Amino acid sequence: KIIDWDASSASKEGYPHFMLKEIHENPIAIKDTISGLLNDIDRVKEIAEEIRNAERIIVTAAGTSYHAGLYFSLLLARRGYTVMPLVASEYHSVRAKKGDIVLAISQSGETLDVKMGIRKFKEEGAKIIALTNVIESDIARESDYKLYMRAGPEIGVAATKTFTSELVSLKFLHSVVERESLDYLEKAHEIVRNVITETEGFAKKIGEELANKNNIYYLGRGLGVPLAMEGALKIKEIAYIHAEAYPAGESKHGPIALIEKGFPVIFINTGELVDELEKNLQEMKARGATTYSINVNERLNFSDNEIVIKSDGRLAEIIIAPIVQLIAYYAAVRRGYDPDKPRNLAKTVTVE
Ligand code: G6P
Repeated sequence: KIIDWDASSASKEGYPHFMLKEIHENPIAIKDTISGLLNDIDRVKEIAEEIRNAERIIVTAAGTSYHAGLYFSLLLARRGYTVMPLVASEYHSVRAKKGDIVLAISQSGETLDVKMGIRKFKEEGAKIIALTNVIESDIARESDYKLYMRAGPEIGVAATKTFTSELVSLKFLHSVVERESLDYLEKAHEIVRNVITETEGFAKKIGEELANKNNIYYLGRGLGVPLAMEGALKIKEIAYIHAEAYPAGESKHGPIALIEKGFPVIFINTGELVDELEKNLQEMKARGATTYSINVNERLNFSDNEIVIKSDGRLAEIIIAPIVQLIAYYAAVRRGYDPDKPRNLAKTVTVE
């Protein structure tokens, strides 16, 4: 008997798709990323010192990495730093100067828009820090400081475990900038493993419900906004459903006009600004929306469908990341698409 075997199915280790395998690799990616950064703590401290002393911090990245960059920008902004999150392709719009620090985030370390940006900002006098998953990638080589996440290889075109590893690296860096203890990160991988086990059924149910919708909103507040943006991007990328993210408070300035009976709205509740978020949920429901909420620690009343995870609030965004990835995955599979190879998209974009 000839055994039907090929390298690609073998490396999926029994999972139907690389994407699902890689979502399940979030815990190990988190663990390896944290231990890598701990081994490299002197360099992290040096980078933290540069950030503390910078006049401005410009954070440049594309796609999913941009959402991680926005998360980091919000962490710094709420501590009073002058920080500018920048969609990498818009580097022409910003002039850097001496005293600025540029943080370039790129899983592959090859994205051309990020590369062009750091070249320009360097010429203008800024110092460059790179956060990548690929040792000695172009962006790492061209930067003054290099920081590596250790997510392992990612085959799925749409980023999953590298996004979570970016969040973890940036949370780690932020704690070092703020001279906070890193103890709370020690158990992060175990927590995320349990969350995946506990929430996969819920994510599958939502994903399959969303599969026959044409439009979806993802709303959040504060640090939940970049997670909402990532949730919507994943749905667009692999399930080909129009999904948009908004800061929940902004949704009344336009987006709410589209709400009609059954319009799905997913709320990301990281446990802060809960009352405000709940008001937004009620506004959506009053117009017929079907509401879903992903909550850490605090519930949103009146949500039609909810999952509540009790955990360390400092890990809220890291916990939510795999859940929005799973929702998109199950929506894509239900619609009959191959989530590993989305149409029109490339893993690494090396053109302008
Ligand atoms: C492409 C990929 C995305 C990724 C983006 C940025 O668009 O399809 O998944 O987020 O590039 O990639 P980078 O390697 O710079 O993080």
